[in-house]
Amino acid sequence: MVLRLNAVAGGLLLTLNLITQHVTADAQRNGHRTKQVPGGSTFYLGQERDLWQPLVHIAVHLSQINSIKSTFQLRTYDPEGAIFYGDTENGKEWFILALKDGNPLMLLYRKEVLVHVSGGPKLNDGQWHTLEVSNQGNHVILEVDGVKGLVMGLHSPQLEDVIYTKLRLGLGGILIDSDRVNIQFDPHLDGCIREGSFLNLTIPWELDSETLWPCYPNIQPGIFFPGTGLAILNTTGFLVEEENGMRMELVGDFSQMDGTILSIRSLAKELLFTLAANNETEEISLNLKGVGISLKNNVKNLTITLQKDSMTVFDHENDLTLSKSMQISQANPSIKWRDGHIAIGGLLGNGGDNIGSQFLTGCLEKILIQGKILDLDVAAKHKSISSHSCPA
Ligand SMILES: *[C@@H]1O[C@H](CO)[C@@H](O)[C@H](O)[C@H]1NC(C)=O
Ligand SMILES: *[C@@H]1O[C@H](CO)[C@@H](O)[C@H](O)[C@H]1NC(C)=O
Ligand SMILES: *[C@@H]1O[C@H](CO)[C@@H](O)[C@H](O)[C@H]1NC(C)=O
Ligand SMILES: *[C@@H]1O[C@H](CO)[C@@H](O)[C@H](O)[C@H]1NC(C)=O
Repeated sequence: MVLRLNAVAGGLLLTLNLITQHVTADAQRNGHRTKQVPGGSTFYLGQERDLWQPLVHIAVHLSQINSIKSTFQLRTYDPEGAIFYGDTENGKEWFILALKDGNPLMLLYRKEVLVHVSGGPKLNDGQWHTLEVSNQGNHVILEVDGVKGLVMGLHSPQLEDVIYTKLRLGLGGILIDSDRVNIQFDPHLDGCIREGSFLNLTIPWELDSETLWPCYPNIQPGIFFPGTGLAILNTTGFLVEEENGMRMELVGDFSQMDGTILSIRSLAKELLFTLAANNETEEISLNLKGVGISLKNNVKNLTITLQKDSMTVFDHENDLTLSKSMQISQANPSIKWRDGHIAIGGLLGNGGDNIGSQFLTGCLEKILIQGKILDLDVAAKHKSISSHSCPA
């Protein structure tokens, strides 16, 4: 099955990619050290690094290879990201296994032809799956849990087989320029790989970092905030209509949260709105430019609507609606939600230098803004936040 995938190049993604690139550049300047790790280690692919960079990689001579098979286990709730990469002669021919919409996606570039297939079972169900990738002649075959998932081949009898001598592999990223991958996907996968055996190689892999981040033994879907950082988005990306205000739905066990869940700041860096949880007072509080609402923290599903001069919170479980308005005056004009920034997991302060405080500890199962599920992989976010899984 061959699918053509549409490029998702909405304004949101473009805008946020700019911020993300900025963050990535910062990370680059920090410099890296290389360490060696066994290929069978447990790898958390969401570990911080440059966007397309593999977490670990290896280069071998063809004479070192005695198998055509790579097998490993994968566990994720993330629908999209790079898993496994291989190339010959520093990228002359290359192969990528990724996830897109939760399904495996394979790309193969060989003899100046790029083919891609997508399909097979959805893998982002939080369970461990065994994947096997094998290269058989002109075909690459993916098996999932012992069942043939995808087959991809190139048939061009007029082209001769070329014998290569050098092979590189990578996990969680690619080793060629991302411009050469003409299917758009976000490479960062919040997922884990373990028990890998790659072409039956026993030599260690290169890790461009000091340590491997751990994988939690058990996970549940959600965005996990360990209390050390926030994620920032540009409200312009949500195309907020001034007349309809801004609508947000938040799902999670609020009684297990502590800190600022969400805050919104204007382009002029004025704090407009905050939503915070306090596990000592057992309260959830909303604040719209000094006007407050508070409710008990035994809630799991809140819908918040922000208008130019008011806020409403609806608690689905208890079927409770609370509303407050602020006084509009020349000194306190109505709010333009369209031009600003939303922080998830922390407080954006007034003024330029205050990039965040009161970081959230807890798991947000889901956030929808204007009816759209928020994927924090497209936000500028602190490295400690995992975008699709929480420890369970
Ligand atoms: C893997 O390599 C070892 C030697 O390093 C060899 O004994 C074994 O047969 C190989 N396994 C496969 C499946 O090729
Ligand atoms: C937010 O998006 C708007 C429109 O794309 C842009 O003009 C503005 O610079 C962005 N702000 C930031 C901080 O990225
Ligand atoms: C509140 O949350 C903080 C941060 O996670 C935690 O250290 C503390 O133990 C919690 N307190 C209560 C009473 O649950
Ligand atoms: C939250 O409540 C809305 C309205 O009742 C419902 O449609 C939605 O499924 C709920 N979400 C969860 C995760 O319970």
